[in-house]
Amino acid sequence: MKAVITATAKYLPENVLSNHDLEQILDTNDDWIRTRTGIRERRILKDPDKATSFLCSEVARQLLDIRGVSADDVDLIIVATMTPDMLFPSTACLVQNAIGASNAWAFDLSGACSGFIYALHTGSQFISAGTHKRVMIIGGEKMSAVMDYTDRTTCVLFGDGAAGVLLEPGTDENHGILDARLYSDGSGGDNLCMPAGGSSRPTTHDTVDQKLHFLQQDGRQVFKSAVVAMADVATEIMERNGLAAEQVDYLIPHQANHRIIQATAERMGISLDHVAVNIDRYGNTSAATIPICLAELDETNKLQTGSNLILVSFGAGYTWGGIYLKWQ
Ligand code: UT7
Repeated sequence: MKAVITATAKYLPENVLSNHDLEQILDTNDDWIRTRTGIRERRILKDPDKATSFLCSEVARQLLDIRGVSADDVDLIIVATMTPDMLFPSTACLVQNAIGASNAWAFDLSGACSGFIYALHTGSQFISAGTHKRVMIIGGEKMSAVMDYTDRTTCVLFGDGAAGVLLEPGTDENHGILDARLYSDGSGGDNLCMPAGGSSRPTTHDTVDQKLHFLQQDGRQVFKSAVVAMADVATEIMERNGLAAEQVDYLIPHQANHRIIQATAERMGISLDHVAVNIDRYGNTSAATIPICLAELDETNKLQTGSNLILVSFGAGYTWGGIYLKWQ
């Protein structure tokens, strides 16, 4: 039994932080950010009382509405995030409580920017096994909570947002999530991390003073690995499934850098009009980028029965992977 996506939804906070806004507080400029990354603006969840679970709960409610099912009908909620409300309890449990999904179990998945792809593959296994009928997969991040807004090498890149899908059993073996190749390489861990706040460096005055509770990235190293890994896994998915470039209706790549997206499309031999791109409007929302793209394609009716979609990502860990899905 294949898992199919029966609803998509997204939630972006209203507040826009543009490149021009960043010029006011940092030694940066719109031209550098646009040409190096493709980003024009990103969304920021300003309300200090709201966190990732708020963004994800908004998505979860929409998924129920769109599909016309009740919260009681949900069996499992997986939230992919690297900015959970707290280390524990899980953000997924907070979402479960917020929407009243009393029959669902819920857990967080830590896959950084690849979290949604990891979670989608994980969730689809419960459907394929026949043990679960409705699984919510949500990628959500309040990246602004882990940004150092004095560090121009990172804070210009990331934004807040969430999106997700409802997975259910399909009726046609040839539609739904058809293939996945997922990878990890822990040797890249130091190049993209938040050093303190976990059990290896618990929070102290010192860790705060040293700014170790913010995201740190060696952009050049991550770029080099990402550009190879994303293109490799995208072409691997094509080869494994006998897909020629013209058969790929949409590449849905993680939105970290427009140059990485372009390089991936070039290696696949597909033109940019078959690539989902919204990095200009939202920046890098980590685990949320791919489902936000998917929701936008869905709400603008770009997805038809039989559309071939390839989802690819790369992120901290390192983690990366690709999924082939045929729209139902
Ligand atoms: O989503 C998880 C995975 N993450 C990624 O895939 C991100 C991968 N990395 C990247 O996308 C790119 O490496 C960045 C966008 C982060 C940086 O672009 P880059 O072309 O690799 O720039 P760079 O780090 O090599 O920096 C080039 C110059 C430096 O100045 P010098 O040393 O050449 O004088 C930086 O200090 O650009 C400077 N710079 C900036 N200038 C203006 C760095 N950030 C900024 C900035 N505004 N915001």
